[in-house]
This record gives sequence, C-alpha cells and structure tokens, in this order.
Amino acid sequence: MIKLQGKNIYLAVLERSDCKKLYEDFEYDFDNPAEPLYIGQSVEKSDEWFYDIQKLQGNENVRLGIFLNDGTVIGDVALQSIDNKNRSCSIGMGMAKIENRNKGYGKEAVKLILDYGFNNLGMERITANTLEINISAQKSLEKSGFVLEGRERKVVYFGGKRYDRLNYGLLADEYLVGGKSKYMNNFYMLNKNLRHIRIDPEKDKDYIRECHCRVNYECDTPYARKTPYEEYRANWCANAGQQEGFLSPLIESMKDERTIAEIIKTESGETVAYFWVSFHGEDTTFIWADVQDIYIEESYRKSGIATYLMDYAEKSARQNGAKVIRSGTGCENIKSQGLHKKLGYYQYRFEYEKVLN
Ligand SMILES: CC(C)(COP(=O)(O)OP(=O)(O)OC[C@H]1O[C@@H](n2cnc3c(N)ncnc32)[C@H](O)[C@@H]1OP(=O)(O)O)[C@@H](O)C(=O)NCCC(=O)NCCS
Repeated sequence: MIKLQGKNIYLAVLERSDCKKLYEDFEYDFDNPAEPLYIGQSVEKSDEWFYDIQKLQGNENVRLGIFLNDGTVIGDVALQSIDNKNRSCSIGMGMAKIENRNKGYGKEAVKLILDYGFNNLGMERITANTLEINISAQKSLEKSGFVLEGRERKVVYFGGKRYDRLNYGLLADEYLVGGKSKYMNNFYMLNKNLRHIRIDPEKDKDYIRECHCRVNYECDTPYARKTPYEEYRANWCANAGQQEGFLSPLIESMKDERTIAEIIKTESGETVAYFWVSFHGEDTTFIWADVQDIYIEESYRKSGIATYLMDYAEKSARQNGAKVIRSGTGCENIKSQGLHKKLGYYQYRFEYEKVLN
C-alpha cells in the first residue's frame, strides 16, 4: 500500500473508517471559506464518499489521507482529473479540523503529492484553485511554487456575496531542477510582485534598527552570543553610539544612488525583508558591492527570498560595473553560510576568538 512519508505527516490510502472520521471531524471555517461547501452532509454520506474514491482511484484521481505520524487521520489531499494525454491534473486538499490548519501540515502534504505527481505519475502541469478570500490557501500554494495564472470573476456565491476564483498552475520544469525540488526558491521571483520600497530613515528607523540588531546577533562572536537575544538587544539599544554607528553610514550610503537600501513588501503590504547593499571604490578601476544587511521575516524564510535578493544585488552590482560583491557572516550563522555557499561565494577571511576566563 502506498505511503508517502513526510516529516510530521504521511499520506496513505483512506480506509472507510478514515472517511467517516474526516466527516465527523469536519469543521467549516467561515473566516477562510473554501470550495466546495459541504455544509449539512450527514456522516453516513462518508460511505458514499469512500466508494466514490475507490471508483476513481488510480485512473482519474489519486486521493490520499493526511495522517499525523501517530496514525490520526486529519485530512485528505488529491490529484484529480488526471489527464494522461496532456499530462496534467489538479490538486485538492482539505483539513478536517480548523486546529490542524495553518500548522504546516498542508504544505507538507502538498509537497508530497506534488513530488508524487511530477516524479511518479509524470505530470507536466498541476493546477489548483482557491477563492479570493482564502488567503491562507493562496499563501500555501504560492509557497509551494504555484504561479497565479488567472481569475474567474464573481464565480462563487457565498454568504450573500460573490467571489472570484483564483487559478494557479505549476509546471514540472519549474518544480524540478536536476531532480531536486526548486519550488521553494522560485516562487517569489516567478509570481509574487514584491515591492521594493526605498528606506525612509526617519519613518523606518525602528524597524531597520531591530533588523540590524538581529542580523548583528546572528553574526556575532560565540562569546557575544552567550547572552540571550533580549539582553543583547537591550544592551545594544542602550548604546546610542552603536545605533548611530549603524544609522549614519546607512544614511550616508543612501546619498549614493547605487545603494540598495530597501524594505521589501508583498503586494498587500506585508513586510517581507530588509536589505542594504552599499557600493565602494573611488575610481572605476575597482568597484565592489558590499551586502551590509539582509534580514528576512521569519514567516517568509526558506521561500527563496534571500536567494532572490542576493541575485538582485548581484545583478545590480554587475550593472554598476562592480568587479566583486562581498558579504560576511558569523561562524554560528549556518543558514547564512548555506546561502552564500549555494550562491557561489568564496570564503576569503577567517577570524579567531579565544574566550578567556
Ligand atoms: C539567512 C537568511 C537571510 C536566509 O534567508 P531565506 O530567505 O530563508 O533563504 P532562502 O530561502 O533563499 O534559502 C537559501 C539557502 O540558504 C540556506 N538556508 C536557509 N535557511 C536555512 C536553514 N534554516 N538551515 C540551513 N540552511 C538554510 C540554504 O542553503 C538555502 O538553500 P536551499 O533552500 O536550496 O537549501 C534568513 O534566515 C535570515 O534573515 N536570518 C536572520 C538574519 C541573518 O542571519 N542574516 C544574514 C546575515 S549575514
């Protein structure tokens, strides 16, 4: 029997009892409405659902249960309307209880079923739909690499209003790079119109100061990092000289129009990142770009944003005639080290510290 194992969940065939449990547990989230609206169906209908699944399983559909690692069934995910001629299908998913939504289980389930669809079934294109008001589904699809392709206007009637349906699609070659999923890393570049907003040092100072302090902490010495962040931050904030030591050079560098000093936001205005890159070199014989700070908001990490921003800085450096682009990090900042390594940065300097008692 098929079992697709993830980290916190696995996908497996839905037995009759699982279908019944999903029907019993199902809660409709009126704050995040999804289609179809199965309101008012009795649990007995779950048997019918079970038979419907069996009828289509393996030809038109592949529907699997989403199970927690302890075996509790919490939802279902499916590749449906499988079209073997055109190698396409659509994805559908449901999590029965509201408490199991927005916990990352859906994202894992989508990844597992996408891997199965692209790698095992040889799909070339997988599509998904969601209502315009279902923001969490949109976020989850986008994080999985889906590209917004279209909008069916005012197509669904619900709660006295009409809503648009958003159509998403993901192609195999966007999903697979050298056999490895690149969905995390292409999503924002492909389909999210991120807004690059030039920093307003006065208006944005609290935000960028906080980001800068966090970056400093991540890159600081092992000795400094023995202090918990809150204490480290309090010390940093209490030191006006240190704050000035950050803000003044930033403001100074912003007089140079090559400088990237930006806050990155989504189209809807959510803050995603802070990024500062300065340019150096007196004459044109040796210009270099320096990534001073890169800070990605936690909820947007591991989605390829840093990859995207570093690529953007590199392009800008090339356009401005820079010979090299430099960046630095701390020995304990494994994530940042991974990022630089992946992007082809060469480590050219080592710094040492010996803690003395
Ligand atoms: C470091 C940081 C900028 C990475 O941003 P991100 O948007 O999550 O990075 P990406 O999604 O583009 O990932 C790029 C690569 O970074 C590395 N990386 C990112 N997060 C990682 C993690 N949690 N563990 C290990 N490596 C990680 C990986 O090599 C990853 O490539 P992969 O996805 O192919 O495995 C982000 O974690 C951050 O803002 N941290 C706090 C501030 C900071 O440390 N800034 C860097 C100062 S030098």
